[in-house]
Amino acid sequence: MTLKAVVTGCGAYLPEHVLTNVDLAKKVDTSDEWIRERTGIRERRIAGPGERTSDLAVNAARAAMRAADVNPADIDLIIVATTTPDLTFPATAAIVQAKLGVLQGAAFDIQAVCTGFIYALATAEKFLVSGQHRRALVIGAETFSRILDWSDRATCVLFGDGAGAFVVEAIPEEAAGERGVIASYLRTDGSLVDLLYVDGGVSSTGQVGHVRMQGNKVFREAIERISEAMTTVSRQAGISPTEIDWFVPHQANERIIQGVVKKLDLRPDQVVSTIAGQGNTSAASIPLAYCQGVADGRIKKGDLVMIEGMGGGLTWGAALLRA
Ligand code: ACO
Repeated sequence: MTLKAVVTGCGAYLPEHVLTNVDLAKKVDTSDEWIRERTGIRERRIAGPGERTSDLAVNAARAAMRAADVNPADIDLIIVATTTPDLTFPATAAIVQAKLGVLQGAAFDIQAVCTGFIYALATAEKFLVSGQHRRALVIGAETFSRILDWSDRATCVLFGDGAGAFVVEAIPEEAAGERGVIASYLRTDGSLVDLLYVDGGVSSTGQVGHVRMQGNKVFREAIERISEAMTTVSRQAGISPTEIDWFVPHQANERIIQGVVKKLDLRPDQVVSTIAGQGNTSAASIPLAYCQGVADGRIKKGDLVMIEGMGGGLTWGAALLRA
């Protein structure tokens, strides 16, 4: 029996506290105008003092399970893409599993920074189509505000906190029809670690550290690598990128998104963008944007959706799915 990995529900969660550009301009030497012009960001959400990445993930996962009409007893795989885990170990996915009351299956984290959700979805797809697992929660969740240097205006204005989740189910091809993950493409170039990293860690400094980024170099790499990933995935699926219905990018910078749209001849009205209200939520940004597209009625069952990401590593990748 041929199985397909179909997204049957998605859910989103954003912390309550809103931090606007105007608020930020009171802390560092920046302005609402500079941030909006260079990035498209107006405001972002920040997790409350007691709020952990697993709490954000659990809220998004519950919403996705409601949308897919499934219970904790139905889930046998949880993958959390995160750069900001609750603890050094165990995996945040294990903590999420316990909080959700899931008593069976496997749970683990994936660390590919802003590309994490693409890596997580591609991994889940392989586990599901092999028949090893039946129903997965694929979650992107971040409390990125906890690893920011709030005195560095070049990075602290870019990021926000949040979580998004997919329920992905193994469904026989005859029942799934055209729906499901069609293709995915993952890349890493570890020689570019210095462009974007956190200057701390368990085996190096013993401290968590803060985000360090050569923003303009990352910017230059982004459009090329994202376009390459999207073109490759399209070729694997035997389509042209212009045939997609919706483009749901990682939300790093509105100018990067528009650069990709231009390079691949997409239409601006095909883009689902949440960057203005959320900033860059790293691994959470793709499912958050996807859920926005579903919630406002743009992404409908059967639509062809391209998702992509690029982040620290450098890592980058894309996936094509029929909703
Ligand atoms: N407010 C005001 N001025 C600022 C700010 C700020 N918040 N930040 C930087 N500047 C200044 C710089 O100091 C510099 O001043 P100078 O010319 O006097 O030296 C000037 O603005 C230009 O700086 P650049 O870094 O060249 O600005 P750029 O146009 O490249 O925009 C940005 C910066 C927005 C960070 C952009 O480079 C970018 O978006 N890069 C990609 C980010 C990204 O995609 N990250 C990947 C994903 S994140 C992840 O994986 C965790």
